[in-house]
Amino acid sequence: MTEPVPPAPAAIRAVVEWYAAMGVDAVISEEPNDRFAAPVRKPDPAARSAAAPAPPPAVAAGTPEEAERQAAAVARTAPTLEALRDALAAFEGCNLRLTATNLVFADGTPGSRVMLVGEAPGRDEDIQGLPFVGRSGQLLDRMLAAIGLDRTSVYIANVVPWRPPGNRTPTPQETASCRPFIRRQIELSNPDFLVCLGGAATHELFETSEGILRLRGKWRTYDTGTRTIRAMAMLHPAYLLRQPLHKRLAWRDLMALKAALDGSA
Ligand code: URA
Repeated sequence: MTEPVPPAPAAIRAVVEWYAAMGVDAVISEEPNDRFAAPVRKPDPAARSAAAPAPPPAVAAGTPEEAERQAAAVARTAPTLEALRDALAAFEGCNLRLTATNLVFADGTPGSRVMLVGEAPGRDEDIQGLPFVGRSGQLLDRMLAAIGLDRTSVYIANVVPWRPPGNRTPTPQETASCRPFIRRQIELSNPDFLVCLGGAATHELFETSEGILRLRGKWRTYDTGTRTIRAMAMLHPAYLLRQPLHKRLAWRDLMALKAALDGSA
């Protein structure tokens, strides 16, 4: 019998490069897991009689439903933003925490009149543990400065507080397990104006799937759980970096926010 030949270094390099290009840039366990070798369990059609009603879906520990339920229970009972942060840090229902370097909870001043919510931290945010500190954050700073605001006069958070590996979009499951936390964070910070940055945050918080270019710039209401506040979607700074011509739309939206803050709209 011939001995198996180890793969050539160039072949290994090619596989790793391919993973990196696909956004797989982190390992989550020491040992490789060969999912092709795992036994596939086929459902046994004889196990349930045709007449028997289907059992209700079980909410077993570790399922997405259970993670969401736990998140809701934990978030609801957090009395302060500090307690909410601690609860999130201890929450094990979202696997993004396994690959992230830091929990990215918030920046700015809780209780500010304006709260901005983005999608999820990127690489720089993950390293520093603060939202919007990379290139798009620098643009956000300039956008705020244009209407006389800065990081200390607003409160900033994300729908998902851990960086998805390779900056991929968070899965619906990941977003769902973080949902109760961002909703409670908004409730506890209690802003007068909520700004959703980009389509992902807007879809999540306004519960709509309409395109961001149609949603942006329009005032609507958001129910924090204790009161109704004004809320607006704006284009995400990362999008504006790619589509600088759309900065004029963002400018209009910033003017609308300023007018609302000044009490003239
Ligand atoms: N994009 C986001 O949506 N959030 C951040 O914190 C950084 C970039």
